Amino acid sequence: MNSKNDYALITGASLGIGREIARELSRRNINTLLVALEAPELYELKQEISDSYNTKVDAIGVDLTDANAAQVVFDWCNDKNYNISILINNAGFGDGGRFEDIPLERYFKMIDLNNKAYIAMIHKFLPKLKNQGYGHIMNTSSMEAYIPLPYKAVYTGTKNFVYAYSLSLNEEVRHHGVKVSILCPGPVLTNEGGLKRIQSQGGKANLIVMMPDKVAKIAVKNMLKGMMVINPGKMNWWIIKLVKFIPTRVKMAILEKMFRVYK
Ligand SMILES: NC(=O)c1ccc[n+]([C@@H]2O[C@H](COP(=O)([O-])OP(=O)(O)OC[C@H]3O[C@@H](n4cnc5c(N)ncnc54)[C@H](OP(=O)(O)O)[C@@H]3O)[C@@H](O)[C@H]2O)c1
Repeated sequence: MNSKNDYALITGASLGIGREIARELSRRNINTLLVALEAPELYELKQEISDSYNTKVDAIGVDLTDANAAQVVFDWCNDKNYNISILINNAGFGDGGRFEDIPLERYFKMIDLNNKAYIAMIHKFLPKLKNQGYGHIMNTSSMEAYIPLPYKAVYTGTKNFVYAYSLSLNEEVRHHGVKVSILCPGPVLTNEGGLKRIQSQGGKANLIVMMPDKVAKIAVKNMLKGMMVINPGKMNWWIIKLVKFIPTRVKMAILEKMFRVYK
């Protein structure tokens, strides 16, 4: 942050991990711009941050799957003279089930939000970030970028895309002072769907499940340090390291058994 007009823009800021990231940034005296679907939660968070912290905050309700959403957010920032120095692409969703049971439109929506919206936002904001010579981009992927989950094939694919895209982009832009971080959480207790999925895995899921505020603390701290890949949670970190040694055929067969409950 180099000027008092600098802001961190967070997508998916009204709930879950995004909301906690916004709170954590505010705790660190960083101005925030909250982006999510138009909903009361978005403005409640804006009010909460404005009441609790000595930072500037604003919010905009927009559906990031709309083709012109990134342009709308970009124009809003320009009109209000908000300078973005941190861009956090976090809004995303995923469904579990047999591949063919989920409607194609739902998959396309997932790709629109989890991938296309990230690219569109970065495409808009990157030239300015590079020009000013400083800034951070953090893209939320998932532990699934390393561990592809059967019965969540498209979601897993979108998170793998975020991982590879962000690594590549980082090498393009880091010499211009812009660092790209990838956040790869394991299961996080954010919404009811997530809670059901975690419960379906029984006691073993409790070993790796994290609360969103903890994930956000780790994410923000390491993003500000310029860390490239952020894997919150010690146990998750170990799992990611260890699965690399399991042959793919064996690993995938074990995962299919574990996640059959999603069918
Ligand atoms: N939770 C986990 O276990 C977990 C694990 C690994 C990675 N992740 C990733 O972490 C990110 C956040 O997940 P979460 O669990 O915190 O999600 P969440 O609690 O469901 O919150 C999602 C956020 O995205 C917003 N959003 C949804 N659709 C949108 C759209 N079309 N346009 C604009 N905003 C939209 C939501 O706004 P509304 O409330 O208004 O819909 C909400 O603010 C996602 O990318 C997810 O894939 C989650």
